[in-house]
Amino acid sequence: MPFFRPTLDQLSAFPFARLRRLLAEVAPPSAIAPLDLSIGEPRHKPPPWVADILEAERGLWNRYPPPDGTPSLRRACAAWLERRYRLPQGMLDPDANVLPLAGTKEGLFLLPQLLEARAADGGRRLVLMPDPLYAVYYAAAVLHGFVPHPLPATRASGFLPDLAALTPELLGRTALIFLCSPANPQGAAADRGYLRRLIALCREWDVLLAVDECYADIYDRTPPTGALEVAAEDGELSGLLVFHSLSKRSSAPGLRSAFVAGDAEVLRRFLHLRSYAAAVQPLPIARAAEALWRDAEHVAENRRRYRRKLDLAERRLRGRFGFYRPEGGFFLWLDVGDGIAAARRLWQEAALKVLPGSFLCAGKNGGEAGRRYIRLALVHEEEVVEEALLRLVRVLDGGVGAEPPYGVGRKGL
Ligand SMILES: Cc1ncc(COP(=O)(O)O)c(C=O)c1O
Repeated sequence: MPFFRPTLDQLSAFPFARLRRLLAEVAPPSAIAPLDLSIGEPRHKPPPWVADILEAERGLWNRYPPPDGTPSLRRACAAWLERRYRLPQGMLDPDANVLPLAGTKEGLFLLPQLLEARAADGGRRLVLMPDPLYAVYYAAAVLHGFVPHPLPATRASGFLPDLAALTPELLGRTALIFLCSPANPQGAAADRGYLRRLIALCREWDVLLAVDECYADIYDRTPPTGALEVAAEDGELSGLLVFHSLSKRSSAPGLRSAFVAGDAEVLRRFLHLRSYAAAVQPLPIARAAEALWRDAEHVAENRRRYRRKLDLAERRLRGRFGFYRPEGGFFLWLDVGDGIAAARRLWQEAALKVLPGSFLCAGKNGGEAGRRYIRLALVHEEEVVEEALLRLVRVLDGGVGAEPPYGVGRKGL
């Protein structure tokens, strides 16, 4: 038997493995079709011309893709950043400040490999991250020899980590901070003041800041502020990286297309590391990605569709379960008192699959920051979302007035 890394076993299971185990304890009613709102997999269709580009560029499948993508893809990413965040022209050099990734996931995961975890007293071993969180931040820290340090992002702190928790004592031991804005699962977006303070703290303490902005283009009313927008105030990108993806923006998670932008020196080293082993975007995909970053219309339509689903959710849930319209992203984060019990009941009584908030948490006390919550991904067609919300209210809040329950989802319909 080879020697496996014990750290891998110490990672708690992915949220969906935990959900499978939880729901295996109970059986859903057999008469109604199951609805799954647990996974944040975008279901809107990417624009049809993506397939045309892939077909037209099929001659490129036999070429090895370069680890830094293509110059035209980097230019398209930089131009999108400039438009989206009204950055001064010339602030970004596409060749130095932008690096394509095969999805943000792999980039976020590999990032700590650039840094040295120093174990000595006073050394830098911590990776700070929000809690609840995208599980990859946690695994990235642990599997690269760092100590993950989750920062509760609760209603009391505006669903973002409380910056007052970033004491000199903590920052002095920190190598990297992950922030997610707009946040998955809560949809909170860091404002200018928050980002300015965080960037300043990271610079003061020589901490690398990685802002996961993969939901940046899925917003309700106001485009969320980006970290680069704040960095543009003094034109300084040192120690800052932002991560962007086509998975949510263009409903194309299967394309595996994203990029990281920011500090040129960090990206130079990242490219060096990635040139040995990292996922790369095949060239036909890079061509399609380029066109997607240059197009705003399909994204506006995407947003309209999510907004309609938020309207629907607001009508059904206003005044219940601490409902609020998330500033960004496509999740509802509902306070149901006990997220695990609610998820189990929704499955057992209404064949509705949702994710308990604590399964998205890494912090102590069994996921305290998410314990009261469930997460619903509004990724399906409106009628499915509507049906799911009816079931939810019926089970957790008893009765939905005159609404006929289980209409759309009844088996055979
Ligand atoms: C917060 C967050 N970051 C990153 C990702 C990864 O996205 P992708 O690798 O598709 O770009 C996800 C996907 O669910 C996410 O929710």
